Amino acid sequence: MNSPAHLSAFWSDFIIVITVLMMVGCLALLFANSRGVVGESSDHVWDDDLRENNNPLPRWWFNLFVLTILFAAGYLALYPGLGNLPGRLGWSSTQQMHATLDSITAKRRAAFAALAGKDVASLSTDPAALSLGRAVFIGNCAGCHGADARGALGFPDLSDQDWLFGGAPEQIVASITHGREAQMPAFNGILSADALQALLDFVPYWSDAKLSPAKRSTGLQQFQQTCAACHGADGHGNQALGAPNLSDDIWLFGGSRERVRETILFGRHAQMPAHETILAPDEIRVVAAYVYSLSHTATTAAAGAQPPVPSAP
Ligand code: HEC
Ligand code: HEC
Repeated sequence: MNSPAHLSAFWSDFIIVITVLMMVGCLALLFANSRGVVGESSDHVWDDDLRENNNPLPRWWFNLFVLTILFAAGYLALYPGLGNLPGRLGWSSTQQMHATLDSITAKRRAAFAALAGKDVASLSTDPAALSLGRAVFIGNCAGCHGADARGALGFPDLSDQDWLFGGAPEQIVASITHGREAQMPAFNGILSADALQALLDFVPYWSDAKLSPAKRSTGLQQFQQTCAACHGADGHGNQALGAPNLSDDIWLFGGSRERVRETILFGRHAQMPAHETILAPDEIRVVAAYVYSLSHTATTAAAGAQPPVPSAP
């Protein structure tokens, strides 16, 4: 691409004429004033004997001035600067930017090409893939899931063993590619006060062994009647719906009595945006490998030997 015309023909010519006139004018002025002899007096005399001398410019100063004008002429001949004239080297900042971008793209392609054909699980142990994956993660995912992938209220922790939609490589890739959406219905006005009370006395404390057996059994009964269709009879959740496991102590929206009450009465609606139009398939694979690696490092894999609670199908 040649340097694009930024200016209308009039303004381009205007700038060219002004610039050239200025340079020629400077030279003319310089040479006009260069003649004369040191000590030569002008005709001006004041106060009887105060004379004004007419000394020429010092030689070194004169030469430097001429050099700067020659430099400017050379620069304008080689580089763009005179209106829309491109300069003989054909350089433009746009072109330089494109060249830099092309070289970055080529490096990126080469890095991804080296990883082509590997599945997500084997990419998750490849340091080069992980560093690419982490860069994609920081750029696209950290805003919601946190730089450490540990999530926040309403944004799931991706570094643990607890999965809403599944932690197998294909499931992670699917979550990223197509996005996910889960909806917990609002039960405000549907549940009787007693039913709500029974649930609130049980659900937040499900994993607490000290919960009284009476509250557990009343709560569980109510739960199985109202909530089991989505969360499973044992509360282990349903990955097809993104219904979380409620029997553990990991909470997406908070596990306090107040937060659970809010969830039950007003519902929840979390959305993971689809990334198929934002990321290339190879970027999705490396970021999925990075996410997969977080819960499959040597230590977590050992902990995962007894997976916390398998989700009911
Ligand atoms: C705008 C916020 C947002 C961004 C950006 C985002 N996510 Fe998510 N992500 C979510 C939310 C919210 C959920 C939970 C969705 C639900 O429960 O329906 C989620 C869920 C997921 C899940 C499923 C977790 C599980 O337990 O099954 C994965 C995997 C995931 N995100 C990975 C990523 C990756 C990788 C990126 C970057 C490429 C990313 N997310 C970018 C908000 C986001
Ligand atoms: C139609 C299916 C469905 C029903 C019925 C349902 N839930 Fe949910 N529930 C969900 C889904 C899906 C989510 C996850 C919402 C999200 O990610 O935005 C959820 C989330 C929750 C959460 C938040 C969990 C967390 O980790 O923060 C709680 C608590 C909960 N449900 C309790 C209940 C209770 C109690 C009932 C019965 C009164 C119930 N749900 C009935 C689908 C359902």
